[in-house]
Amino acid sequence: MTESATELATIDRGHLGELIKRERSLYRANFPRSWDAYEAGAGHLLGGVPMTWMRMWAGGYPIFQAAASGARLIDVDGNEFIDFCLGDTGAMAGHSPVAVQAALTRRYGEAGGATTMLPTEDAAWVAAELTRRFGMTRWSFTLTATDANRWAIRLARQLTGRPKILVFSYCYHGSVDESFIVATREGPRPRPGDVGPPVDPRETTRVAEFNDLEMLQQELAHGDVAAVLMEPALTNIGIVLPARGYLEAVRAVTAEYGTLLINDETHTFSAGPGGCTAALGLQPDLVTIGKSVGGGIPAGAYGLTEELAERILGDHDADIEDTGGVGGTLAGNALSLAAMRATLGEVLTDEAFAGMIEVASRYTAGVQGVLDSRRLPWHIAQLGARAEYRFCPQMPVTGGQSAAAADPQLDEYMHLYTINRGILMTPFHNMALMCPATTEADADAHTAVFAAAADELVG
Ligand SMILES: Cc1ncc(COP(=O)(O)O)c(C=O)c1O
Repeated sequence: MTESATELATIDRGHLGELIKRERSLYRANFPRSWDAYEAGAGHLLGGVPMTWMRMWAGGYPIFQAAASGARLIDVDGNEFIDFCLGDTGAMAGHSPVAVQAALTRRYGEAGGATTMLPTEDAAWVAAELTRRFGMTRWSFTLTATDANRWAIRLARQLTGRPKILVFSYCYHGSVDESFIVATREGPRPRPGDVGPPVDPRETTRVAEFNDLEMLQQELAHGDVAAVLMEPALTNIGIVLPARGYLEAVRAVTAEYGTLLINDETHTFSAGPGGCTAALGLQPDLVTIGKSVGGGIPAGAYGLTEELAERILGDHDADIEDTGGVGGTLAGNALSLAAMRATLGEVLTDEAFAGMIEVASRYTAGVQGVLDSRRLPWHIAQLGARAEYRFCPQMPVTGGQSAAAADPQLDEYMHLYTINRGILMTPFHNMALMCPATTEADADAHTAVFAAAADELVG
């Protein structure tokens, strides 16, 4: 053990257990109407909640939302929260931004017609704006990021005639069958808990560790990988940032082996107006995105290069119009497009990103200050408007390393402590996201609560 490591604070697990007990009781006392609402749903909702992952909120039941605006959320008990969860990125534009409200009222209320099987003039504007931001020249729309990924994968297989895709260990790209695979010492394994996989993912997928170029090269050398599907920084197993030069090297090796490169910018959009793709000058073949682009209204998109677009349109064996497996009845609907136009045009603008990133830097510096002054063996990573702390002293460089740093007990304590004091963090992570309405005072309010939690833990 190095000298500096011996100086780090140690966490007394017995004491932590006591703190968690206290925070659970406080939670139950703070959110009684949410408990009643939860009980009322128990009879007919699978798992007692409208979406089963809502069971993952600390406290044994979720708080129930009454209202939300900008960076604020109010629950049914009347408690107000500074919302750093922001719908796990779905609300990166802030809750119900005025410009999106107006666009939705115009489209749904005044003009009328949410879904008609007909295009609206908003689509061309949105596609051109996505091109300005991400560089891909042809775009198509989906309702979710998952679908954007699924359809991008199908196109990649069709275009290359290759059967497999490659993902990084502990990635998350939505409920994409091919992606639930991890790298282990004994080789690739289905990710534990994968529900009813159609086939063993090893039949469809190769897996490498993020930041491990040699492993990627070895896997691609099999010559059967249609596409690498990646987040330019992992954001779903803490934040794992790319090593210097790594993403350029990924581009070079994928090109060398004839494999397409798909950047999933759903979360890494936080890096700037054109996500990591623009911020780092990346040159993928396809870009996928979802969640925040519709200001909270279901919307997603995938974009591809001119050359790939021409090839797929000219492929008479590829039915991209009817029952070929690429498309959905409500995809590209008028309401989603109106929401995307307002979100990109008026809310998540270039100027807004500059402010969001500044607030995220203040948030990160605040947390870092607490980690340093209390000598906590944790670290924090920032990706533009997003930051996440994780319970290991050094920044992990692979998904596997980051997964190994998981600490469910500390997770529960920090989530309960913050929610009990008006700070909403993402339930699956210690992730905080800034929207255009998040202020420096909000970041400082988090720092104060974070410091208090740390002091109780190791003080
Ligand atoms: C990087 C990434 N891609 C895709 C998705 C899937 O998004 P959705 O569940 O909205 O389809 C997620 C969800 O967390 C994600 O983090």
